[in-house]
Amino acid sequence: MFVLVTGGSGYIGSHMVFSLLEAGHDIIVLDNLCNSSELSINRVREITGKKILFVQGDVRDRKVLNKLFSDYDVSDVLHFAGLKSVGESCCHPLMYYESNVAGTVVLCQAMAAAGVFNLVFSSSATVYGDGHPMPLHETLPTGSPTNPYGRSKLMIEMLLEDLTDSVHPWSIALLRYFNPIGAHESGVIGEDPLGVPNNLLPYLGQVAMGRRECVSIFGNDYPTLDGTGVRDYIHVMDLVEGHLCAMQAIHKSSGLRVWNLGTGRGYSVLEVIHTYEKISGCNIAYRMAPRRPGDVAACWADPGLAAKELGWKAKRGLNDMVRDAWYWQKKNPYGYQIS
Ligand code: NAD
Ligand code: UFG
Repeated sequence: MFVLVTGGSGYIGSHMVFSLLEAGHDIIVLDNLCNSSELSINRVREITGKKILFVQGDVRDRKVLNKLFSDYDVSDVLHFAGLKSVGESCCHPLMYYESNVAGTVVLCQAMAAAGVFNLVFSSSATVYGDGHPMPLHETLPTGSPTNPYGRSKLMIEMLLEDLTDSVHPWSIALLRYFNPIGAHESGVIGEDPLGVPNNLLPYLGQVAMGRRECVSIFGNDYPTLDGTGVRDYIHVMDLVEGHLCAMQAIHKSSGLRVWNLGTGRGYSVLEVIHTYEKISGCNIAYRMAPRRPGDVAACWADPGLAAKELGWKAKRGLNDMVRDAWYWQKKNPYGYQIS
């Protein structure tokens, strides 16, 4: 039986493929390569010495999906494929609703036609919206995400919930990620954003390498310990290990399950910058800039439910995350393309 990983050549997906292979699963990756390249999959093949079936295709493409499900015996789908830039989603909302929401609809239709009902979905802490006291627990009502990307994740959560109330025996996990960072400790796979990084960690890496002059800190007047935004950063390897546990757990019974994947500890932008400086030995120039629209002051998880129900807990701390992000960055200053 195969595990289908949509978006498997992307940042989190490629780490997931590595962990699945190590756990003994046979894998098919479906990715349209709109934000990645097959080089990441080649690297995973290299470090594991294992076979990975790769299909270049789109989750919105019914024909590709139907063929894939008829050619291979798939037991589970881990659905990472989608667009993830908040800023881009504000400029091109239809692109986001089509790729993320319509893509999930087509994928679920193909799964149902093939009788495959185990699905793990990459959701986001963004679905909680603003205004809750921290930490965020799964029982809190979802809020109003402030951008089309976040709303597409919330819509998908709702449509998947509807599926679990339907006639088919769906077993679905909604995994709400906090802030995944870092890389596999080998430095062979990691995060390789196209163009100017939107996220803090890859931006810091490029400043440390001298590719960019300085990082802008978006807001230093938040009600946090030092005025800068606080996030719950989670090592990408801890995150993917959480998926392995969730995949096992949904096999036990049908229905919808929701788990936060975070560490339960928040760090400010300045704390992360100082940690990066300490670990890399590089000076990271920064300047204070206005708040970024749509950002919240602070966001961290209550990871207790995943600990209780999945026996999963993030093991790696901020130093480990930054050490592995930096190692990847140093070994691959220009990502996968030129190394
Ligand atoms: P990524 O862009 O590196 O990976 C997504 C992959 O999906 C890419 O390889 C891309 O080529 C592929 N893809 C996009 N649209 C597709 C389509 N229509 N058909 C087939 N393939 C398609 O992003 P990531 O950081 O690895 O994120 C993976 C998932 O996790 C996404 O759904 C994202 O929204 C979610 N997520 C990410 C974060 C984060 O901070 N990275 C946080 C919360 C949730
Ligand atoms: N930040 C800066 N400068 C930068 C980039 C970021 O100061 O150049 C700050 C942000 O304002 C925020 C923190 O660093 O306070 C983290 O920002 P990121 O862009 O790295 O991450 P976000 O918390 O904005 O969003 C991430 C993912 C979303 C996901 C969310 C879930 O990008 O897809 O985590 O919590 F929804």
